[in-house]
Amino acid sequence: MFIAGNWKMNGTVAQARDLAQALVNGLPDGAPATAIFPPAIHLAAVHDIIKDSPIFMGGQDCSSAENGAHTGDLSVAMLADIGARGVIVGHSERRTDHGESNEAILGKVKAAQSAGLGAVLCVGETLDERQSGRAETVVQSQLAACLPTTFDSGSVVIAYEPVWAIGTGMVATVQDISAMHSMIRQWLQAHRPEIADTFILYGGSVKAANAADVFGADEVGGALVGGASLKSDDFLGIIAAAMKA
Ligand code: 13P
Repeated sequence: MFIAGNWKMNGTVAQARDLAQALVNGLPDGAPATAIFPPAIHLAAVHDIIKDSPIFMGGQDCSSAENGAHTGDLSVAMLADIGARGVIVGHSERRTDHGESNEAILGKVKAAQSAGLGAVLCVGETLDERQSGRAETVVQSQLAACLPTTFDSGSVVIAYEPVWAIGTGMVATVQDISAMHSMIRQWLQAHRPEIADTFILYGGSVKAANAADVFGADEVGGALVGGASLKSDDFLGIIAAAMKA
């Protein structure tokens, strides 16, 4: 299992330090792989806290460019230099807020690979796409367009995050999660066999109270958690549920 907390655009540096420290203190022995994705401006402070712990951290986005005239962007080399070991790419909030295309996201996955960072590639359908029966084809086309055809140093993890379940309190049913995750596994086996065994995370309103159900679904290798990753007790509750699953 792999449990990841996406802190999104929340908190102060003091809050980021406190949250990271509470996770370091509270992480039980035998916990699954645990990662946190703080705002970029808090990465250095968080790294100071977690550096001798099993928790690792990543960025919430990266540029596909190596360096240069890209105001406001962060390169994978900068992320690696500050102690990040991974990066989220293609989150639906980036797709919506910044118009990120599948093609742009492919460039980011490749950049992460080149720096030896683990990419957490987010895919997922909108409510309209699900209601019109297109959920699986949308996710397949995102996978096809955003995943390189060859893989080198960095790992790639898939996060299935139905857009309508993010921050809404609505969680996909265990049946829907099982169906989508099984489809993703089969798609990877058929089209990207090099990463066919990778973690497939579920994301979208995961909380300690529903985590056991989510982890009981087929082919769920963990969770990408937003809101509930901002409180240490909630996030540690999800980790505890993963340990029981
Ligand atoms: P919530 O857990 O707040 O629904 O967010 C999920 C998410 O977008 C994680 O990347």
